[in-house]
Amino acid sequence: MSVVAYAPASTANVSVGFDVLGGALAPISGELFGDRVKVSKGDFGFSLECVGRYADKLPKDADSNIVYQCYLNYQAALKKINKEILPVKMILEKNLPVGSGLGSSSSSIVAALEALNAWHDHLLDENTMLTLMGEMEGQISGSIHYDNVAPCYLGGMQLMINEGGIISQMIPSFKEWYWVVAYPGISISTSAARNILPAQYRLSETLTYGRRLAAFVHACYSDQADLAAKMLKDVIAEPYRSQLIPGFKEARVFAEQSGALAMGISGSGPTVFAVMTDLQQAQLLQQWLTENFLQNDEGFCHICRLDEKGARVLGTEL
Ligand code: HSE
Repeated sequence: MSVVAYAPASTANVSVGFDVLGGALAPISGELFGDRVKVSKGDFGFSLECVGRYADKLPKDADSNIVYQCYLNYQAALKKINKEILPVKMILEKNLPVGSGLGSSSSSIVAALEALNAWHDHLLDENTMLTLMGEMEGQISGSIHYDNVAPCYLGGMQLMINEGGIISQMIPSFKEWYWVVAYPGISISTSAARNILPAQYRLSETLTYGRRLAAFVHACYSDQADLAAKMLKDVIAEPYRSQLIPGFKEARVFAEQSGALAMGISGSGPTVFAVMTDLQQAQLLQQWLTENFLQNDEGFCHICRLDEKGARVLGTEL
């Protein structure tokens, strides 16, 4: 017996909601775009094997792997409710590039915890799981923010609440939007991308940030796609981070000329995203980005919809 869990790629910030908005991604091609973790019965303790396109970018020793940390944290969480963890064999299929701005570490964390929880008959509830996921993401990136783990786990477009005992809730999203995401093939660590941001912002910028975020959420609830797209602008991170992404300006110009309603940095970069409504225009942009924005063979460009399902058990075999 075994269980395999899948956790999708995600795009955090969505330009207008630094640290408080994130969406899960599903390529329209139908291919899986996220990590998978298999759990099966172990003889004792824990063992881990890493496979998949990006497995060679992970630490060589299993103890330094995030999946082992998931196992330890899951064990500690079970202890709190007087339950014992079972001996497990785990396999991580690493399908997302590390440091890409696509929620790669979140995908591993969420897939590992989802698989462990399924293996243990769902002993932990959704809120406890999400809290664990956020803590683990914080261990990696240096500060706790849920804008990748929440969409990756729960699906759709998620708004971080982080107060009153609520971590995140889904907000309505526009089903007609295509999300063209291009990963150039270079890596940027989230902690490095956070370190270059100012410690303080001018009052005028914070007012713009709050106004646009409120207008975006209002537009989502009142089904005004054009208004929502117009609000997808970033005064917090993009002015500082765009210089880390080769060809960002040119990509923006081409995206705008190709009919993109908005374009920005996915999470802490270097992946960029563009919102489009016309599939042919999205395909043209995909082709242009593939030919002009990708830096090497590691890069790729997908046309996505939002993944409404989030993390899920896919079956028993990888
Ligand atoms: N909101 C984070 C950042 C993205 O931009 O630093 C990763 O969760």
